[in-house]
Amino acid sequence: MTNAVFERVSLAGIHLKNRIIRSATHEGMADDNGFPTEKLKKLYIRLAKGGVGAIITGYAGVQADGKTCFVNMTMIDRDDKIPAYLEITDAVHEYETPIIMQIAHCGRQTRSKTTGFPTVAPSAIRDMFYNEDMPKALSENEINEIINNFVSAIERAKQAGFDGVQLHLAHGYLLAQFLSSYSNRRSDRWGGSTENKYRIVSEIFKRAKEKMGDYPVLVKMNAYDGRKKGMRIEEAVRIARMLEQSGCAAIEVSCGFISDGFYLLRSEHLPAEAVMAYTFKYKDFPGFAKAFAIPIAKNFMTQPKPLLKYNLNAAIQVKNAVNIPVIVVGGINNIDDINDIIGNTKIDFVSMCRPFIIEPDIVGKFKKGTQTQSKCIMCNYCAIIQEEKPLKCYYGELPKGEPVEI
Ligand SMILES: Cc1cc2nc3c(=O)[nH]c(=O)nc-3n(C[C@H](O)[C@H](O)[C@H](O)COP(=O)(O)O)c2cc1C
Repeated sequence: MTNAVFERVSLAGIHLKNRIIRSATHEGMADDNGFPTEKLKKLYIRLAKGGVGAIITGYAGVQADGKTCFVNMTMIDRDDKIPAYLEITDAVHEYETPIIMQIAHCGRQTRSKTTGFPTVAPSAIRDMFYNEDMPKALSENEINEIINNFVSAIERAKQAGFDGVQLHLAHGYLLAQFLSSYSNRRSDRWGGSTENKYRIVSEIFKRAKEKMGDYPVLVKMNAYDGRKKGMRIEEAVRIARMLEQSGCAAIEVSCGFISDGFYLLRSEHLPAEAVMAYTFKYKDFPGFAKAFAIPIAKNFMTQPKPLLKYNLNAAIQVKNAVNIPVIVVGGINNIDDINDIIGNTKIDFVSMCRPFIIEPDIVGKFKKGTQTQSKCIMCNYCAIIQEEKPLKCYYGELPKGEPVEI
């Protein structure tokens, strides 16, 4: 069975060394203008040397008002960034490792204070975590502009040597906001029925195909988002079929909205110390309020379960509905489970995020048999602290402690 995981395999013409993919992980390693840095290149080289099947980059922004409020997002919004990305893809390709760029617009899951623009969304519904102001509901013209900017981003990614792109349709960002009836309350041709909610995605595929033919466009989508009237697996399966019709190269199955905290990247306990110290929402609370809130939050706020393989059942249902490759992410952290998923289900690939933060060479260790389990303790400090600092494993210690170098 191990052979199935470590056999060479092709995904929409992209050649992978094995079936274990690095899921998109915001690195926070761009410069102030969204250009990728040397530090980012070094991280990708470590991943490639470490034996990963393919790298999906952290989300890159397609336009300025869709930039994350987390630190230093890479942007793919202008042609002058292409040469810098080309250096990265050339370096990664030296290790025969494909690299796919994830592209995104954050919609209402960002802050106008950081982007310098009003936040926008399918409908004017405030995100209780992110938004100080009500987001603006997008006009028809603005939606068209966003579609065109996604397509231009795909063209740039292709010119920059990426093996494909992945549209971020998950985690409550703009395209997920369109797909979920929780956040899309429009009554025009962009909301209401599944077909209408999907229209923005279908237009991106249509215009990208017109310009770039078979260039691989993958997606990461929510199979469920836990929101009232939000995405459920039945609708996700219908959307998966529509994606296949649109010419999607592969579907990565995930869940949840970022603003719901630790639903999409799970932890046994709420990482309350880090949340209180680093999230813009709570870090300025007075000390006594934090001292009171931390133990209550840690001990009494129940966390979503299960902690492991939590998207597997949903991914199996998606795979049963389509003929294109399906990737499953979420709480996969050991080689036995990977062998089991690849050997005993029809799922084509697994992807991991946090295991690669602590050990970029985890796949090589799995392959050699020197390690069977990730060392990640799922503290989620990496995700919280990256509001201010580039990606790093903190191993459950706030930065004044001893961070584990990545
Ligand atoms: C620090 C950090 C950054 C992340 N950045 C992204 C991102 O840019 N795009 C994305 O689709 N998911 C992102 N995620 C979510 C992961 O890709 C993944 O879906 C989630 O962590 C569950 O997988 P895991 O259990 O293997 O960590 C991020 C997660 C973490 C911890």
